[in-house]
Amino acid sequence: MSTHKALLLLEKQGKYAVQDIPTPKPGPGELLIEIKATGLNPVDWKIHDYAFFVTEYPAILGTDSAGTVKEIGEGVTGFAVGDRVLHQGYFSNTKATFQQYTIVPAEITAKLPSNLTFEQGSTIPLVLATAAFGLYSGKVTTGELRGAELTAPWEEGGRGKYAGQPIVIVGGSSAVGQQATQLAKLSGFSPIIVTASLKNTDFLKSLGATHVIDRNADLPSSVKAITSDPIKYVYDAISLKQTQESAYEVLASGGTLILVLDFAVDEAKVDKTKRVAKVFGTTYDPAQNALGTSLYKKLTKLLESGDLKPNHVEVLPNGLAGIPDGLEKLKANQVSASKLVAQPWA
Ligand SMILES: NC(=O)c1ccc[n+]([C@@H]2O[C@H](COP(=O)([O-])OP(=O)(O)OC[C@H]3O[C@@H](n4cnc5c(N)ncnc54)[C@H](OP(=O)(O)O)[C@@H]3O)[C@@H](O)[C@H]2O)c1
Repeated sequence: MSTHKALLLLEKQGKYAVQDIPTPKPGPGELLIEIKATGLNPVDWKIHDYAFFVTEYPAILGTDSAGTVKEIGEGVTGFAVGDRVLHQGYFSNTKATFQQYTIVPAEITAKLPSNLTFEQGSTIPLVLATAAFGLYSGKVTTGELRGAELTAPWEEGGRGKYAGQPIVIVGGSSAVGQQATQLAKLSGFSPIIVTASLKNTDFLKSLGATHVIDRNADLPSSVKAITSDPIKYVYDAISLKQTQESAYEVLASGGTLILVLDFAVDEAKVDKTKRVAKVFGTTYDPAQNALGTSLYKKLTKLLESGDLKPNHVEVLPNGLAGIPDGLEKLKANQVSASKLVAQPWA
């Protein structure tokens, strides 16, 4: 039996250890990926601290991967052993990414173009899905609104469709906010008004932001100074109570507020004419499978052309063993406009 190294969360809210585990075989429609780089996300430390999503321990976390195809499952077409790819992982021990090998359905895997390193590729999948689903997904069968129901720019008629309409993105330099800003540009929105620390202004303008507002400034008056048009879309990539309340105030009647965390605006301030969408940023969600697979069909070209760019990369020392310290850094809000990345074979 082949084995590989994985970072195991040994028990609920417990310690981590790097251990050898059996390497799985890809089933029909799946690929076995040798992970060269894996990105860290806030959800990883939150799962450790608050014990959600994961029910069985030892557990493997991590949901961002770039690597090479090692083995191909039955019925898969379009991939060859050795292809460079990127994909989102999921919270199961065969599909998570804080390990050397993982399994992924081929339909939500894209080839990594040669202009990107594995490390850059691994900054993209989870946050791109989160940004894309928030803008282009919609009501799912349970009745929940998961996105603003816009037409995606990679679909027919979607590119530039919202030309001349303003959008506000709170937390433009966050990993989610960077992808939302780039997608807003492809969708044609203008102006694209983002909040961030002003040191990130040039970088955010290079991604498509037209105006960068200091994250500590008063948002409603700052936006009014830029445009008097109604703001129909606000993507709050931070979604703390404080950012939600100012985002909600900025939003025009009939507009949609897109949130990455639960709605936290005070009851007294709720205006029933405003819609609130809560994102579920995973390409594994059956309710959003069609949008996820259509994105992954077009992703290689979007990356190759530079329409979508990766985050800045900060490589962690010590391979998989370096991840827990990285998660502490994320939790302590010590990361600005970049993504912590681990190399599982280092
Ligand atoms: N619902 C879902 O499916 C889903 C999926 C992915 C992520 N999320 C959540 O989305 C949030 C963002 O994740 P992420 O990976 O994008 O985070 P991240 O990149 O680690 O966030 C760091 C960035 O947040 C910015 N920031 C922090 N507080 C801010 C504020 N008050 N106003 C403006 N910017 C602020 C900082 O900007 P400056 O350095 O410029 O100050 C920094 O660049 C997390 O809570 C995460 O758990 C949810």
